[in-house]
Amino acid sequence: MRNEQILEAQGVNLLAYWRLAATEQEHAATLLQILDLPTGARVVDLGCGTGELTRLCQAIRPDLSWTLVNIDAWQLAQCPDGAQLVEASMIDTGLPTGTFCAVIVAYAMGYCNVSQVLKEAARLLIDGGKLVLHELYASSPSVQQLGAEVLGYQVHAANDVQLLATLAGFDVLSQHEDCHQAPGAVVDEAAQVFHQFDHGLAVLCKARPCQLSRRAALQFSGGKDSLACLYLLKPWVLAGLPVYWTHTGDTIPETLAVVEQVRRWVPDFRVIEADVLAWKHAHGTPSDVTTAQSTWMGQQYAMTEIQLVGRFDCCWHNLMKPMHDRMLADGVELVIRGTKLADTGKVPANGATEHYDVLLPLLNWSHAQVFDYLQEVGAPISPVYQHFKAISAPECLHCSAWWDDGKAQYLKQLHPEKVQQYQVSLQQIRAELSKRLQELDSELKECESWH
Ligand SMILES: C[S@@+](CC[C@H](N)C(=O)[O-])C[C@H]1O[C@@H](n2cnc3c(N)ncnc32)[C@H](O)[C@@H]1O
Repeated sequence: MRNEQILEAQGVNLLAYWRLAATEQEHAATLLQILDLPTGARVVDLGCGTGELTRLCQAIRPDLSWTLVNIDAWQLAQCPDGAQLVEASMIDTGLPTGTFCAVIVAYAMGYCNVSQVLKEAARLLIDGGKLVLHELYASSPSVQQLGAEVLGYQVHAANDVQLLATLAGFDVLSQHEDCHQAPGAVVDEAAQVFHQFDHGLAVLCKARPCQLSRRAALQFSGGKDSLACLYLLKPWVLAGLPVYWTHTGDTIPETLAVVEQVRRWVPDFRVIEADVLAWKHAHGTPSDVTTAQSTWMGQQYAMTEIQLVGRFDCCWHNLMKPMHDRMLADGVELVIRGTKLADTGKVPANGATEHYDVLLPLLNWSHAQVFDYLQEVGAPISPVYQHFKAISAPECLHCSAWWDDGKAQYLKQLHPEKVQQYQVSLQQIRAELSKRLQELDSELKECESWH
């Protein structure tokens, strides 16, 4: 005997164990009331079970036209007459684009990748169409694991699903408590596990084009913010969102360790190779302050011994430009970054740019929120953050710029063998700067004697 038949004998036909009302009829009536669909509206139920929701709704709203999608042929065979039956996966239904007023997903999303379900739902809906998500949620990784192990179901944090739904172009219209548990011994027993999940029913509206269908790229640095983005968008990443990382050739070991950990589970991890040590050899030592004499032009006239480059010249050529060029080469339309307003008070790009759109999921997060989130999802947080208090971790081990980062302290604690070399670079920079400061002071003195 199939599980559905055992449940049916106990008065359970809807396979969503928590409902909006005490009876299945009232649940369906309440849902129809909330949805307020126009006469003759087309509705598709993705992962429809035995079609019980349709059967109940048909009795109340016979004008609605139903399409039922399921990969289970036996369940489809139990579905009511008068509905279009489609044996297919809910992430690839083959149904025509933009033809449904409503999509219903009830206790089914977790059998597939959530970003793919949302993408398919967005594709099927007309503009302004409604999506019902009647689902289980969990924010703790151990409860999520329970869902995967016991139910074979991917349970996500409600916030993560909401972010992905926003990216799929949806706005939340309303949220409803589904606090009525289905009857019977089978449900009672299952409830021991099910009670660990959060659950609820949300109605969303297709408000914008779906970003999940665009050629997108997540820019990963191995630092805390892009790591939080990676985990926030994990279902999309698992569904194939490419993750790009620039290896400068001198990336600090702690970041390399984080990168190694995440690339084990990221299906499309793309490495952009740079060679910052060779670049510095050719162009100069990075410094937060440079002098005319130490730049490439000054070098043409041998005006001083040391050649310096600005900190951002080095970062641009070895980190940002290789990444930017690769975005263009790969035809990326949407770049996702972990940049936050809390970093410096202003973000360089957000929304449309002349090259691609930029999406910042953490725009309004604080540093503390990022650390809390990484802890919550069990992400590999770099030990650098225990030693290092600047807005971002150092990128390159042998960098002699970014003096406000507190790198000396970091090196002393984690790489003491690198301190001396760092000190020599800083002393060389200082020697050059002090010559110019002496010239500046002498000029000022000359001016003062004029008064
Ligand atoms: C827990 S039942 C919920 C059924 C129904 N939505 C309800 O509330 O009564 C999950 C349903 O999802 C279906 N399902 C699982 N994986 C699917 C997939 N990849 N595509 C379509 N349906 C799927 C199962 O066959 C089952 O009908």
